[in-house]
Amino acid sequence: MTAQTENSPRHVAIIMDGNGRWAVRRGRPRTFGHHRGAERVREIVDVAPDLGIEVLTLFAFSTENWNRPGYEVKVLMSLFRRYIAREVDGLDAENVRVRFIGDRSILPKNLQNLIEMMEARTAENTRMTLQLALSYGSRAEMTDAMRYLAGEVEAGRLTSDDIDQDVISGAMMTAGLPDPDLVIRTSGEHRISNFLLWQSAYAEYAFIDECWPDFSADRLAEIVGAFGRRERRFGAVSAR
Ligand code: FPP
Repeated sequence: MTAQTENSPRHVAIIMDGNGRWAVRRGRPRTFGHHRGAERVREIVDVAPDLGIEVLTLFAFSTENWNRPGYEVKVLMSLFRRYIAREVDGLDAENVRVRFIGDRSILPKNLQNLIEMMEARTAENTRMTLQLALSYGSRAEMTDAMRYLAGEVEAGRLTSDDIDQDVISGAMMTAGLPDPDLVIRTSGEHRISNFLLWQSAYAEYAFIDECWPDFSADRLAEIVGAFGRRERRFGAVSAR
């Protein structure tokens, strides 16, 4: 496995797609794919700090995913609960901070409680930040941020001239974290699907064909290695 380099992406964000198709192709129910997907989450979270990743964001459930059949939503919610209950001690021992983004108010109450517990338990950890996007949608996040900033202006705590890109970044759920350098999407789909739209303005994108249950630590290391060899110009000209 590739070791950490100075060109490692600081923040990697992953759209974990293709669980359902992976399972259906094997003649199994879609939820079987989600169970396998959860195993991949453990493996990837385990290896990420060794690759020099400081922040790992995983898109686990979108605002649109609430429209899935009730049974599938139920299975996913129970997988998230189980993941937190099983992993909290290990992640804490590994010095990983966990935080969640998304509209948690519509998640089941027992999941909300587990989320709060996990965030509190791991809040002081420094080796890596694992950010789980649950019930998350970028447009909803931006709408909330704009509403918040408009309220600040109305209340006289800000003027419209105070609003610059840093102020907007600070009003997002990802406040305080570096923007993603690399966004990976599995399963061959070339879409962003309402994920970190503001934050990923200068990210590199890797669209890969494997479905999420087939993703692996070696594959992540390969993609991170390829990222380190790319030149990022942020709209400027080449320094070479
Ligand atoms: C996309 O595949 C995946 C999801 C909507 C759920 C992601 C959840 C996991 C990887 C498992 C558990 C996660 C954690 C954090 C414990 P899809 O169902 O949209 O696949 P399809 O496009 O083939 O239908």
